[in-house]
Amino acid sequence: MPDLSARYMSLDLRNPVIIASSPLTADIANLRKCEETGAGAVVLKSIFEEQIESQVDREMLQNEEYLSHADAALYFENVSKGYYVNEYLKLLREAKKELSIPVIASINCTNLSTWVSYIKEFENAGADAIELNYYPIASAASVEGRTVDRLALDFASKVKREASRPVSIKIGSRYSSLANMIKGFDVIGIDALVLFNRFYRPDIDIESMTLSQAANPLSSSHEYAESLRWIALMSGEVKCDLCASTGIHDGETMIKMLLAGASACQICTAALKDLSIIRTMCDTLSAWMSRHGFSSISDFRGRLAQENMEETGLWERTQYIKKLSGSN
Ligand SMILES: Cc1cc2nc3c(=O)[nH]c(=O)nc-3n(C[C@H](O)[C@H](O)[C@H](O)COP(=O)(O)O)c2cc1C
Repeated sequence: MPDLSARYMSLDLRNPVIIASSPLTADIANLRKCEETGAGAVVLKSIFEEQIESQVDREMLQNEEYLSHADAALYFENVSKGYYVNEYLKLLREAKKELSIPVIASINCTNLSTWVSYIKEFENAGADAIELNYYPIASAASVEGRTVDRLALDFASKVKREASRPVSIKIGSRYSSLANMIKGFDVIGIDALVLFNRFYRPDIDIESMTLSQAANPLSSSHEYAESLRWIALMSGEVKCDLCASTGIHDGETMIKMLLAGASACQICTAALKDLSIIRTMCDTLSAWMSRHGFSSISDFRGRLAQENMEETGLWERTQYIKKLSGSN
């Protein structure tokens, strides 16, 4: 039997399948199921600063008459925020008590100073690592790209300085120089990068003429190519781990990501549809490794990364080039 164990952010995983931050990792019953069906690790559903703020604002509006005094309002705001953070800490503690696989806390935040203190609380509650779900919408036309990039790097380096457990950042691919940003996060000492998040995409309901929920929050199995390319391009360039994410729906795609140099893979859509996919993916990996005579993942990980390819530039090609010889 090949050894499927993987090392990700200095954590020992029994296999490289991580359940991504999602409704599947938002309560203890589902987290238990993730472990029972074979997951290597779980990333808890993100705690969203934006969501907490808007919920607190709503509650403050409902209690307006009592909160006209500034001190009372501030007190109420802090207590309410604390409530949501405490709920998250409760889930984290429960998960750590009941699961034996690594549990990664996930934070989506905008206000760094608040969150650094919460990160410490998450670490004290037992989080094995912290994942930052980082997604600024650079919608202010007056802000230059270099400012957006610098903010992201400053943010990452402050968190890394404060945290005592490994830190990963889950990013999108829309940077003008993605390779430069990936390298920048690596230089700061970030332990892993998750490539890539699949962001919420708002839509419009044309009958009610209002904004509606995203047309399809779930990925399709064709969406993995962007992650595959960037993992192949960057895995030989950085010290940090790269975790593949988006469009990984089966074991074959996971094998491709490992060949490109990924340390682990996060899955969400496939697991939401059927959690037993974890086992199927591991079985596919195990059978493929046996067929090719590999006893551990390190025997083949990164074999098709750019740095190990004899012909350079294949992962960078952007156009379909017809072969000059032969028929089309
Ligand atoms: C319903 C739903 C909720 C999600 N919630 C979060 C979240 O709280 N934090 C986060 O970082 N990603 C969240 N994601 C994104 C997933 O973790 C994952 O990155 C994305 O779905 C791409 O992976 P997939 O192709 O395997 O689905 C969510 C995705 C879905 C479908």
